[in-house]
Amino acid sequence: MQKATDVTTDRLTATYLFPASDRPVIRGNMVASIDGAATANGKSGGLASDGDHQIFHLQRALADVIVVGAHTAVVEGYRPPTVDQQYIADRVERGQNAVPPLILVSQSLNIPDDYATIADPGVIIATCAEAPDGARKRLQAAGATLVDCGETSVDPLLLADELHRRGLRRVLCEGGPRFLATIAAAGLLDELALTVSPTLVGGDAQRIAHGAAVHVDRGRMRLRHLISDDEGYLYQLWERADPRSTTQNG
Ligand SMILES: NC(=O)c1ccc[n+]([C@@H]2O[C@H](COP(=O)([O-])OP(=O)(O)OC[C@H]3O[C@@H](n4cnc5c(N)ncnc54)[C@H](OP(=O)(O)O)[C@@H]3O)[C@@H](O)[C@H]2O)c1
Repeated sequence: MQKATDVTTDRLTATYLFPASDRPVIRGNMVASIDGAATANGKSGGLASDGDHQIFHLQRALADVIVVGAHTAVVEGYRPPTVDQQYIADRVERGQNAVPPLILVSQSLNIPDDYATIADPGVIIATCAEAPDGARKRLQAAGATLVDCGETSVDPLLLADELHRRGLRRVLCEGGPRFLATIAAAGLLDELALTVSPTLVGGDAQRIAHGAAVHVDRGRMRLRHLISDDEGYLYQLWERADPRSTTQNG
């Protein structure tokens, strides 16, 4: 197994580039304990490491868009994304925005209107036609931009269509567990970057995909890449066992 210290920054970047595709490619990015917990003390931060942060930020710098469940964004205090200056020129060369937009997914629109991130022009809330009208108006008054992708909930296929329409094809899905399960159950999870933290959590923490059941044919994946670091973290990159039309890195 490769050690992180033996992997150059260029090599790491090449590893985590999204495959070029004429349709959105969705990659989940999650961290778990050895016993599969997605949180320690209610947050994922307790499982992360410097290496995990590095790969997290690298993938953001390679993505066209970041999509995350609104609950996770609020719990984790998500702010509008930023990209390190060193990646901007390559992003422009790939035809990407300097900074990827952030899409928060919510059906209930149970998002505090004093959560300042929602008013950023680079942030969109993906919701559904039957979302409560009062909450919709409250968030719009707070400066949020909303887009409907479904009737009673966000339909992952309609969300993918919306991303495609906007030219956003390298999609980084940062969870949380319920939203990741929704994407995987719809058969739309193409890749999964998973950090395994060398720790046991026990208790009743959620797994990284929790809720919607994934049909066995849609859940089968194969390992594309694995490195470790001196602290014992494992950085895994998984891809669908039946990859769809991907051609080259881009
Ligand atoms: N280990 C990791 O890598 C990792 C990553 C992210 C988060 N976490 C942790 O996970 C915990 C949160 O877990 P969670 O499962 O509740 O997070 P979550 O997946 O962010 O929660 C579900 C969110 O997605 C929305 N959603 C999911 N499917 C939807 C659909 N089809 N249509 C519309 N909205 C949909 C929900 O909408 P509503 O607003 O309507 O409920 C809710 O806001 C936090 O403690 C966080 O720290 C861990």
